[in-house]
Amino acid sequence: MTETILEMRGITKTFPGVKALSNVNFAVGRGEIHAICGENGAGKSTLMKVLSGVYPHGTYDGEIHYAGDVVEFKNLRDSEARGIVIIHQELALSPYLSIAENIFLNNERKGAGGLIDWNQTNFQAAALLKRVGLRENPTTKVSQLGVGKQQLVEIAKALSKEVKLLILDEPTAALNDEDSDHLLELILSLREEGITSIIISHKLNEIKKVADTVTVIRDGKTIETIAKSDVTEDRIIKDMVGRDLEHRYPDHEPQIGDELLRVENWTAYHPQDPSRVVVDDVSITVRSGEIVGIAGLMGAGRTEFAMSLFGHSYGTRISGKVFMRGKEIRTRTVSEAISNGLAYATEDRKTYGLNLIDDIKRNISMASLKKLEKAGLVDDNEEFAVANQYRKSMNIKAPTVLAKTGKLSGGNQQKVVLSKWIYSDPEVLILDEPTRGIDVGAKYEIYTIINKLAAAGKGVIVISSELPELLGISDRVYALSEGRITGEMPIGEATPEHVLKLMTMEKPR
Ligand SMILES: Nc1ncnc2c1ncn2[C@@H]1O[C@H](COP(=O)(O)OP(=O)(O)OP(=O)(O)O)[C@@H](O)[C@H]1O
Ligand SMILES: [Mg+2]
Repeated sequence: MTETILEMRGITKTFPGVKALSNVNFAVGRGEIHAICGENGAGKSTLMKVLSGVYPHGTYDGEIHYAGDVVEFKNLRDSEARGIVIIHQELALSPYLSIAENIFLNNERKGAGGLIDWNQTNFQAAALLKRVGLRENPTTKVSQLGVGKQQLVEIAKALSKEVKLLILDEPTAALNDEDSDHLLELILSLREEGITSIIISHKLNEIKKVADTVTVIRDGKTIETIAKSDVTEDRIIKDMVGRDLEHRYPDHEPQIGDELLRVENWTAYHPQDPSRVVVDDVSITVRSGEIVGIAGLMGAGRTEFAMSLFGHSYGTRISGKVFMRGKEIRTRTVSEAISNGLAYATEDRKTYGLNLIDDIKRNISMASLKKLEKAGLVDDNEEFAVANQYRKSMNIKAPTVLAKTGKLSGGNQQKVVLSKWIYSDPEVLILDEPTRGIDVGAKYEIYTIINKLAAAGKGVIVISSELPELLGISDRVYALSEGRITGEMPIGEATPEHVLKLMTMEKPR
């Protein structure tokens, strides 16, 4: 092994009721790309927060050795001063500030008299953008950028702090394949410059591609550290879940019944730019017991279709008709959509899915409070019992349903979102990227839940950027490209090549 840049010894971290890390040992060689794998809630993010001083020295047990010293960081500033920079699981840029302002936030370029030197700021930002391969003007507002580009701004910001050890917590979870590839290439090129990286990811193919070393954590303990030459996806999975996972998808015998949902000629325009069509004359059907996949690249209009159908784009121009069991329904607002039997579990847990300062119990009951009413008030005991039932059946890792959802790991937050919509008991449930940021074991659990919903006669629409997943669980798929349906077929006819071709089909111009 090369020289060790970091060694965390015997790290133990407890939260009220949860031992997140228990005597973890973790060593990283200088200049390597070191991946951390583990199930949702295994303790990956916590370990990195201990390292970077988010959890200050004194709030955990154990020792951190870094570049030859024992370090005791009190906060992020301390760790940054030593060249350790963490990019968190949820992006943390300020949308209304420019790229350059974000890069140098709290680290402003000052000129004579202590005033911010905007020429220098923008000039240096431009140089950093060039280094990360982002062709944007430094004065562009971050809100104008897609997630892929925002991630590059985060890295530019890290580079501005003269990073030596870069920590990326699920950097590609929200990125499309192209942006992910670009990001991974960038991390590889940073390695050439001598920068060490620690990357947390649930995408095992990605890890196999870039990591020099992989450490697997399970239930707050280090299972093993594997060298590149010995890394296989199966070995990582086995370490993560503690057993072999023979099938990635559970068996599913479809029992398909009558038509539930029919959407005819659905057209929607961009909320900020009413001249831009984002959903173009889409017609689909979903039958009882059926799992319908919608395949499409990022930007194809899948989420816009689902959101506009679910009343989220109230006020934007929408045309088309929606029928439930043959009867026309209105879905212009979220509450209309819910009361007409639709549910939409969003890809964006933070903005639409959860109230992070509220507990698990209320987040699950939120869309169904009417059901829990007794003499005009929410029946607390019933609400608690319902939430507890979901905590068990969905295997949500939390000591109690009174825990705040903001404290849960990413994957467990996703399970709360799903519980909420399943409890609302819709006829048709739309799941938008239901397994984003979810570990392989929990993915299997979620597929099983989707199958159970179908077996109970529900219609399920699944939107997923992972084509193998979509083809693994659906009964029928639609392909969407540039807002239009470019093809539809039963799963037996859906080869990945064929679907991919439909997904990338351009409009005749
Ligand atoms: N601030 C906190 N307060 C209480 N419990 C917490 C807090 N942060 C994390 N936990 C708990 O500690 C455990 C480890 O969480 P952590 O976020 O490190 O998991 P993770 O491995 O990053 O998971 P994921 O893949 O889902 O992001 C979980 O059980 C989580 O609920
Ligand atoms: Mg995490």
